[in-house]
Amino acid sequence: MILVYSLGGSILYERTPDELKKFAGCLMELAEDHQIFVVVGGGKIAREYIGKARALAAGEAFCDLLGIGATKMNAMLLIAALGRAAAPEPAESYAQALSASAGGKIVVLGGMAPGQTTDAVAALLAEYVGADRLIVATSVDGVYTADPEVDAGATKYTKMTHRELVSLSMETTLSAGSRSPVDPLAAKILERSRIPAAVVYGGEVENLKRGAEGGHSGTEIS
Ligand code: UTP
Repeated sequence: MILVYSLGGSILYERTPDELKKFAGCLMELAEDHQIFVVVGGGKIAREYIGKARALAAGEAFCDLLGIGATKMNAMLLIAALGRAAAPEPAESYAQALSASAGGKIVVLGGMAPGQTTDAVAALLAEYVGADRLIVATSVDGVYTADPEVDAGATKYTKMTHRELVSLSMETTLSAGSRSPVDPLAAKILERSRIPAAVVYGGEVENLKRGAEGGHSGTEIS
């Protein structure tokens, strides 16, 4: 299968080097049977930088560019953990990502353009490379009816349609550094190309496999 992962920045940045090695090992095992692309999020460093720039009255697009810088740093960290199994630098375009994957290398990317998050990059990449599945591995263990950190009554969807994901994501704001489960652009792209997707808790390494091959306890979107 051709698999695209959207890996939350918090999942990467808060790991020790040994834990990062485990992540990399799991991706390398998956790469024996599948073609793997990983889009890495900005996580805490993105939010911290954006918070400071905003306090300095920087505009949203400027803050987005700062966020993109953070995603690229996280992408480089994952490339360091993957070593020769990965293409040596984050791909700068979808076409470059596709070419870099030709030799069986794992291709890692960060953010691309202001006004979106790395989930949208992952969805666009999935469309571009004709991926079989998109796996969003993030800090929450699925898509909830409301933000589970704020609303104790929030319940998790075990499965949902693309249309339901679009409606839900439209209700969340799109400011730089926002923490919605999947951004609205990503949801729309998945819907228009009917790309099957899963949202799983990325803090558990095995979920990378379960999200791709089945048996996960997150949210399945189709
Ligand atoms: P992400 O939003 O994708 O990282 O990028 P993340 O999802 O916060 O990481 P986790 O899941 O919480 O750990 C961080 C910020 O970078 C900018 C946006 O401001 C986004 O909020 N960004 C990222 C862009 O403007 N364009 C992109 O293509 C990617």
